[in-house]
Amino acid sequence: MLTMEQYREGAQALEERLGGLRPEVLIILGSGLGKLGEYVSDPIYIPYGEVPYMRTSTALGHAGRFIGGMLGGKRVLLMQGRLHIYEGWQAYEVVYPVRLAKLIGIGSMIVTNAAGGINLDFNVGDLMLINDFIKLNAVNPLIGQNIDEFGLRFPDMSKVFDREYMRLFRDVVTDAGDVVREGVYFYCTGPQYETPAEIRAMRILGADAVGMSTVPECIAARHCEMRILGITLVTNMASGILDQRLSGEDVNAAGEVASERLAPYVIEFLRRM
Ligand code: HPA
Repeated sequence: MLTMEQYREGAQALEERLGGLRPEVLIILGSGLGKLGEYVSDPIYIPYGEVPYMRTSTALGHAGRFIGGMLGGKRVLLMQGRLHIYEGWQAYEVVYPVRLAKLIGIGSMIVTNAAGGINLDFNVGDLMLINDFIKLNAVNPLIGQNIDEFGLRFPDMSKVFDREYMRLFRDVVTDAGDVVREGVYFYCTGPQYETPAEIRAMRILGADAVGMSTVPECIAARHCEMRILGITLVTNMASGILDQRLSGEDVNAAGEVASERLAPYVIEFLRRM
């Protein structure tokens, strides 16, 4: 656990390194989706190690730095590389950058991730607007003494993903003549991929895609009332659907290909925001 004083210390360090930028939007990039960072103008690179109490991402395809700058006409703070529970970090460590973002005045968050498709109508390469999530494990960034400065002890989660942002992103994709799916993201800690039986169970429970990220950050962001857009890229069909073995390398490669397609949509979304 960190104290409010420690959160403030981290936020101050981040703010100092950002100069006078004052970002409005936090963007967290998923596996292989780091490409967006290349489009940031007047970039300020801040390795995670330069921010007190910040952990460093060790996962495949995650660079481990903040990029501050301009994207789609908005001042953004981009995370090239996110932190995952499977790396051994505590949930409060995984969401630490979200809370720093809040403290430096950021009110909106865009999260992207790579995930396995559970919905049998989905295909590899599909984009999915996340409209809700399911988390049945005990991982939770809000366990422990509540920090009232961030939010309520029992925060509401009835609309985690901002309806206005969802409509806006859908319009962006549709205007480009492309298609975006919509669905429920099921959160597993990983690092192992799921069994076919687990995937069948998740489908019965109403999930459309499964992944190992995003949900801790969304819980922390809603706790402090940030507005969220969540985008999933279906990098593979989930376990047992096709006759295939799942590998992190393949997931990353698929993420990198799709990154090219997703980047302009995120930029146009920022422009219309
Ligand atoms: N399962 C869990 N996480 C994932 C997957 C998957 O099939 N693909 C990409 N991230």
